[in-house]
Amino acid sequence: MEKILIIGGTGFIGQHLVNTALERGLNVHITYRNKKRTATLPANVTKHEFEISNEDKIRQLIVDYSFDYIIQNIGITKAKSSNKYYAANANFVRKLGKILIEEHCIPKKLLFISSLSAYGPAEFSPTNIISDQFPPHPLTVYGKSKLQGEHFLIGLKKIPYLILRPTVVYGPGDKELFPILKLLNKGLGIHLGPKNQMLSFIYVKDLANLTITALLSEYEQKSYFVASNGAISTTNFYETIGSIFQKKIRHFSIPKSVLKGIARILHFIAMVTKKYPMLNSEKVEELTATSWECDVTQIEKDFEFVPLHTLKSGMKETVQWAQNEKLL
Ligand SMILES: NC(=O)c1ccc[n+]([C@@H]2O[C@H](COP(=O)([O-])OP(=O)(O)OC[C@H]3O[C@@H](n4cnc5c(N)ncnc54)[C@H](OP(=O)(O)O)[C@@H]3O)[C@@H](O)[C@H]2O)c1
Repeated sequence: MEKILIIGGTGFIGQHLVNTALERGLNVHITYRNKKRTATLPANVTKHEFEISNEDKIRQLIVDYSFDYIIQNIGITKAKSSNKYYAANANFVRKLGKILIEEHCIPKKLLFISSLSAYGPAEFSPTNIISDQFPPHPLTVYGKSKLQGEHFLIGLKKIPYLILRPTVVYGPGDKELFPILKLLNKGLGIHLGPKNQMLSFIYVKDLANLTITALLSEYEQKSYFVASNGAISTTNFYETIGSIFQKKIRHFSIPKSVLKGIARILHFIAMVTKKYPMLNSEKVEELTATSWECDVTQIEKDFEFVPLHTLKSGMKETVQWAQNEKLL
């Protein structure tokens, strides 16, 4: 049985990667930091405690098991300083690659979960669709650090790698979209960007399926944008979820200047509480971008990717999960 290591297997996407890897007959190992978060993982998964600063631990793990496949799924989306973003999203990728080479334990494939944020929104592309035909334009430290992680990996020429850049991922287990879902459940559609803003999404189970398919495929040394086909306006997105809640949505816009003010207040609160919010001044620029449509032709061509879930069916499952967990 082939062995896979999912580095960061306890989070939202990680747990779905674990389930899909098991379904595909792989012998699954994961790393975790917080033991409590392993409670929901199946018993036949081998769990290894690991924190990225512990280089010796990951080296030992790699030497002991010589994995056939590795997914680098760890990512930091909110942190106090840019150093923390770069440590997890970039430097760790380089460290991991170097260890694999030094220990002669190069896997059949190392897949890095990057992010669409590494390329920035579509308005910087002449075609108005995010594509690697044009230079990346990340707006946040998060995006810049993911892009640097990609560059480090591409530079380690001996390693067969793939890079996936998912757009916004949603599904059971995700808590980031909750504030929006709660408002929509009350019939409120709050627009943070322009009214005609275009968004893209991927359902987490579709992402997990694609990730494992890509990992086991013949393809290497390639990068892919990942989204369900097409983009959707914020208005249609809200109306789709409103129809699941059977609510008529009233649409309101928050001006960018107000969002920037809120981000500044949250920043000062975070300095006291040490809890770092998703909203900061850089994030405001991402949230107010006119389009996040990306070019998915490569995943369609190489992996014949067809999402199994529409936004409506995926959101229905997400809402159902949230209601079962008494989160909504
Ligand atoms: N969610 C999205 O919409 C989205 C979109 C595009 C790309 N991505 C990328 O997808 C990946 C997974 O995202 P997610 O939403 O599933 O995030 P998540 O729920 O926060 O999971 C992150 C995982 O990384 C682990 N981790 C974080 N910092 C670590 C550290 N210093 N040492 C060891 N482990 C650490 C976490 O362990 P703990 O369980 O102990 O915290 C968890 O297993 C990330 O790389 C993210 O950048 C996410």
